[in-house]
Amino acid sequence: MCLPGPCWACCLLLTVFSLGVQGAPEAPTAAPEQVHLSYPDEPGAMTVTWTTWVPTRSEVQFGLQLSGPLPLRAHGTSSLFVDGGLQRRKLYMHRVVLRGLLPGVQYVYRCGSAQGWSRPFRFRTLKKGTHWSPRLAVFGDLGAENPKALPRLRRDIQQGMYDAVLHVGDFAYNMDEDNARVGDKFMRLIEPLAASLPYMTCPGNHEQRYNFSNYKARFSMPGNTEGLWYSWDLGPAHIISFSTEVYFFLHYGTHMMERQFRWLESDLQKANQNRAARPWIITMGHRPMYCSNADLDDCRSHESRVRKGLLGRLYGLEDLFYKYGVDLELWAHEHSYERLWPIYNYQVFNGSRVTPYTNPRAPVHIITGSAGCEERLTPFAIFPGPWSALRVREYGYTRLHILNGTHVHIQQVSDDQDGKIVDDFWMVRPLKNRHKYL
Ligand SMILES: *[C@@H]1O[C@H](CO)[C@@H](O)[C@H](O)[C@H]1NC(C)=O
Ligand SMILES: *[C@@H]1O[C@H](CO)[C@@H](O)[C@H](O)[C@H]1NC(C)=O
Ligand SMILES: *[C@@H]1O[C@H](CO)[C@@H](O)[C@H](O)[C@H]1NC(C)=O
Repeated sequence: MCLPGPCWACCLLLTVFSLGVQGAPEAPTAAPEQVHLSYPDEPGAMTVTWTTWVPTRSEVQFGLQLSGPLPLRAHGTSSLFVDGGLQRRKLYMHRVVLRGLLPGVQYVYRCGSAQGWSRPFRFRTLKKGTHWSPRLAVFGDLGAENPKALPRLRRDIQQGMYDAVLHVGDFAYNMDEDNARVGDKFMRLIEPLAASLPYMTCPGNHEQRYNFSNYKARFSMPGNTEGLWYSWDLGPAHIISFSTEVYFFLHYGTHMMERQFRWLESDLQKANQNRAARPWIITMGHRPMYCSNADLDDCRSHESRVRKGLLGRLYGLEDLFYKYGVDLELWAHEHSYERLWPIYNYQVFNGSRVTPYTNPRAPVHIITGSAGCEERLTPFAIFPGPWSALRVREYGYTRLHILNGTHVHIQQVSDDQDGKIVDDFWMVRPLKNRHKYL
């Protein structure tokens, strides 16, 4: 989020000043750091990504035994990432895909090369097929400074509470800053989480520097768009991650927005054909269509760009998601939690007044951007829209439990209140006629 304010000028000055200060050069090292996992949308596979400061080979050693030697080996590739900052720092990004893994089983691994190994990490592979109940931690806007929810997330993850994390844009604040050292700091900070379960992402506005280069280089999402948009299957759900930023950073033209839109439509078509097997379609994108915060963000304008598209009519996403019966839309950007009643075009479509989320007749939106960053929490406007069901201005994150094809359980964890559950509701959609509303 960006608030225009009196300190904008000092912010610029500070940026200019910090550019002038030369950081001490890192001693070049071949030791892996910033280890993290992602799921390549291939059953029985997991991608390991890490960074070194000199070119080395990329190897992962892994096995099922918690102690002793790691009998299995996988090799991958590394690519040189040159940050766009004045120092043109060089990072070597290593990617190895582990394949043929047993489903729902814990593995131990370490990554690196003969020139240096990481410490051992553990992860549990995703289960196979559609008949299981994935659990996700969902949040956006987590910074290297003031990362409030991080210790609690770490405890949850150590207890094996989740199968994957969805980080709905805005990392580190910002990964490119201080010649990408802030990105390094952030990736080290999340390593205890991200090295032990798939850490799935979408880009936010804070990633836009140098054409999103730090985002594209550091994460390894499925598909061939460098993680800008992609989708993957998880148990009874199809999850679509996309970039809202293609609607805002338009100085290179509109082709990214067009490309993404075409891809979204074809992906939704395919997902709808597969709806009997995977009834849930869940989207994640950084900037919401609706919100009731006290700021000047896009979601505050009646015809928000994400919702209605460019000029109020080009590539709007609300019509598209409604048309294909998307169930749940996850957003961030606002540093707070907000749940909406099922909504389309400002109209509330409750399933019924008593049980609004049972058989909802429009998508349900959740805004969860309060994991914690240097910009702190975003205040709410005094009057919420009539479509706003609940607002929580506390640090925290969301738990999403996809129980089966008809039932999803959503909880909001407050970090301010020591882990208290401050929102708790079920979404229920019968299996019939999932592919559209009406
Ligand atoms: C920005 O990145 C995208 C995707 O990586 C690429 O297709 C596009 O050409 C880039 N734009 C510029 C101006 O470099
Ligand atoms: C939707 O349901 C909620 C909760 O019962 C209720 O407060 C709200 O007025 C309903 N909205 C409409 C338009 O029926
Ligand atoms: C999903 O779980 C709920 C709660 O246990 C149950 O009532 C429902 O029948 C289940 N749905 C399917 C498709 O199994």
